[in-house]
Amino acid sequence: KPGAGLAGRRVVVSAGGTREAIDPVRFIGNRSSGLQGYALARAAVARGAEVTLVAANVGLADPAGARVVRVESAIQLREAVLAAAEDADVVVMAAAVADFRPVRQATTKIKKTSDDPEPIYLVKNPDILAELGEVRRERRQGGKPYPDVLVGFAAETDDVLANGQAKLARKGCDLLVVNQVGENLAFGTPDNAATVLIADGDPVEIPRGPKEDLAGIVWDLVATRLV
Ligand code: C5P
Repeated sequence: KPGAGLAGRRVVVSAGGTREAIDPVRFIGNRSSGLQGYALARAAVARGAEVTLVAANVGLADPAGARVVRVESAIQLREAVLAAAEDADVVVMAAAVADFRPVRQATTKIKKTSDDPEPIYLVKNPDILAELGEVRRERRQGGKPYPDVLVGFAAETDDVLANGQAKLARKGCDLLVVNQVGENLAFGTPDNAATVLIADGDPVEIPRGPKEDLAGIVWDLVATRLV
């Protein structure tokens, strides 16, 4: 149903991109602006949901009516999302979470020396979406779904649909919004184009348009899955 309500539903949206500290002044980051996640949060508020927005390094004003939790790193984002997900009906992971972080974070600024620089060794970050998918699978066996609807985003540069289908299954989400990145699409722009892959249904094609439009279609698809 287009424009379907989310009245009284508890919704968690993550937005932006994580920063993984190298030292007190430097980090490894990504190009996510947070625009898509913020559009999702605003649309959910407009449909009557109780919204927690977990925002990572976003230079945007807090959406009116949402509870905003600001975080920096993937580890902090995980803490905030898992805490808010505990009693949520829907979790939408729109944030670009760094796959890796530096093993060690220097406590003082790394100095420029005449020697060759030290390598930065990386370690894997936890996959929050996959973790939510797993927890939900376990709890379902006990009768309590958690959350009812789980939505992921995936930016791909190649083999978009094939990579997306594999990711949907691997992460255990209901919907995966996949988009092609590059050519000024998606990151930092007001427009997006995507395909929503659905665990038990046919893909939904979303033509290029404002991120608000994509947000509306995602909530329509979510609303049909809420009992
Ligand atoms: O594997 P990939 O990073 O492409 O997956 C993207 C999806 O997984 C997004 O929904 C993102 O928020 C989520 N993700 C996550 N934890 C990570 C990496 C990605 O929750 N460490």
